[in-house]
Amino acid sequence: MNRKDFPMLEQDIIYFDNGATTFKPYEVIDAISDYYRNYSGNAHRGDYDISLKVDQEYEKGRNIIKDFINAKNREEIIFTSGATDSLNLIVNGFFANLLEDGDEVIISKSEHASNILPWFRLAKTKGIVIKYVELDDNNYVTVENVKRAITPKTKVISLAEITNVIGDVRPIKEISSLAHQNNIFMIVDASQSVAHKKVDVTDTDVDFLVFSGHKMCGPTGIGVLYGKKELLEELIPINLGGGMNESFDNEDEVYLKELPFRLEAGTPNIAGAIGLGAAAKYLEKIGLDNISYYEQDLRRYLLTKLKTIKDIDIVNEESDSGIVAFNIDGIFSQDIAVYLNKYNICVRAGNHCAKILKDKIGVKNTVRVSLYFYNTKEEIDKLVSLLSDREKILKEMI
Ligand code: ALA
Repeated sequence: MNRKDFPMLEQDIIYFDNGATTFKPYEVIDAISDYYRNYSGNAHRGDYDISLKVDQEYEKGRNIIKDFINAKNREEIIFTSGATDSLNLIVNGFFANLLEDGDEVIISKSEHASNILPWFRLAKTKGIVIKYVELDDNNYVTVENVKRAITPKTKVISLAEITNVIGDVRPIKEISSLAHQNNIFMIVDASQSVAHKKVDVTDTDVDFLVFSGHKMCGPTGIGVLYGKKELLEELIPINLGGGMNESFDNEDEVYLKELPFRLEAGTPNIAGAIGLGAAAKYLEKIGLDNISYYEQDLRRYLLTKLKTIKDIDIVNEESDSGIVAFNIDGIFSQDIAVYLNKYNICVRAGNHCAKILKDKIGVKNTVRVSLYFYNTKEEIDKLVSLLSDREKILKEMI
């Protein structure tokens, strides 16, 4: 689908590492280039024409993202450097001030490091207790298991909507509802979902949601922190400096700006926000439902083909996203990635930053194929043909 929109696809390359980052269409590249070529001023600081145009385009990016995730207010969209930055801001700017010794935070063992390590630090500094929701036989998070993990001390549930190794799609709306029935905050990492299915923060009623631009056809270095306005009002900025203060005279007289500017200190990533807006518009034009449908079809095709390979162990056969992780018995996952690279096929191998998932799935490393709408069945045929030839793999590994 839409392969002509991507300059990277003019190369002789098969790209199956969309969970790590996606390619960028011309519309995004052109929007960024237009900013640097034609109106390359700073934002929210100048009184001259190009600076006013920057203000408009930067804020247009924010409005597009607000509509893209169906937030109620533009002040609820904070631009950050990525999902990691957003999660760290939520944990350190909001929950570090709220949580107390013994308070419990529910995560899962399949979370990405960025949804684990900030909590580990709060466990050390504030004495919070991290609880892992039990994963079922398919390594899914179920509402029932979340219910079982909740105690009167639970204050936060923080989960990815789709995880980056198992690729399971979590029932976020139901978990969010359960959280709120128990006065628990709900945080969602939508990094692996926002480019693949419709994300709607009003419908799911989550308290915070984060994602990165580069995994949704946008630029690197830009991400989003969505938070309900009344919660963001309580979030204490971590970065202090220009652009976020109204005035200051001495340490007792510091007045901060309103949201969203209060949480965006320094010159923002202007090109990033403009590019991210263009990416969201691009995805909307194709249609998130069309993307989902196409990916499901590709996934089914990939699984059928992979299962013909002798000694393959597919870790997440039952999941329903475009992420498929596997191993071939007796061959180290990274060797497979290096072998495929000889044929210009890009996959990711390793633990994919989900380092405690091994406790549950029993293997530390996997080969991961992560699909997107510009992949094709012909590409899958080539991948599977190369993986089916065990002798060739072993010979070329040496
Ligand atoms: N989090 C990214 C991945 O899963 C980098 O590959």
